[in-house]
Amino acid sequence: ARRVAILISGSGSNMVALVESMTGDHPARPCLVLADDPHAGGIAKARALGVPVAVVDRRDHAGDRAGFEAALLDTLEAAQPDIICLAGFMRILSPGFIRQWEGRMLNIHPSLLPKFRGLDTHARALAAGEAEHGCTVHLVTEDLDAGPVLGQARVPVLAEDTDATLAARVLAQEHRLYPAVLERFARGRCTGPG
Ligand code: GAR
Repeated sequence: ARRVAILISGSGSNMVALVESMTGDHPARPCLVLADDPHAGGIAKARALGVPVAVVDRRDHAGDRAGFEAALLDTLEAAQPDIICLAGFMRILSPGFIRQWEGRMLNIHPSLLPKFRGLDTHARALAAGEAEHGCTVHLVTEDLDAGPVLGQARVPVLAEDTDATLAARVLAQEHRLYPAVLERFARGRCTGPG
């Protein structure tokens, strides 16, 4: 099976959706959940699911992105992933780091890219008066939130929406979209035996 490492910074609900999807005849299995914050809520969830967990604490490398990325790389390489899924991983990775995983690293972003790259996507979608919003899974390239789109899911924006209600509607779609895209992606790359 293809080996999938999942990088998280927070609650890890997308990570849980991905891990729970990788069963049966799914072409991939989780090999590692890597958090950049020892307090990330997703750590306990990953442990409960029986997935190996590692923490590379960004605060141990404050002001030293090269050192942080070297530690990330060591930890990742030990797990030998074929595919990396960023799932609410809130650090910007350097072009050099990204290049090593080019074509093998996926991200989920809470907007209909190319709209609303970056942060605060739900508030910005509301402020822009969008009738529709959603989420995107894309390949990670050096350009932030601008790599090739692998899949999108749409939700309506309702008149009474707040950031929180809109975010929850989008997140429910993230939990469907990301596993679906990962399965298709892993199958496409699964050319050899095993
Ligand atoms: C998700 O909405 C994800 O799309 C977003 O963070 C949330 C993580 O939730 N990612 C980004 O904003 C990336 N810039 P989760 O930890 O429960 O999966």
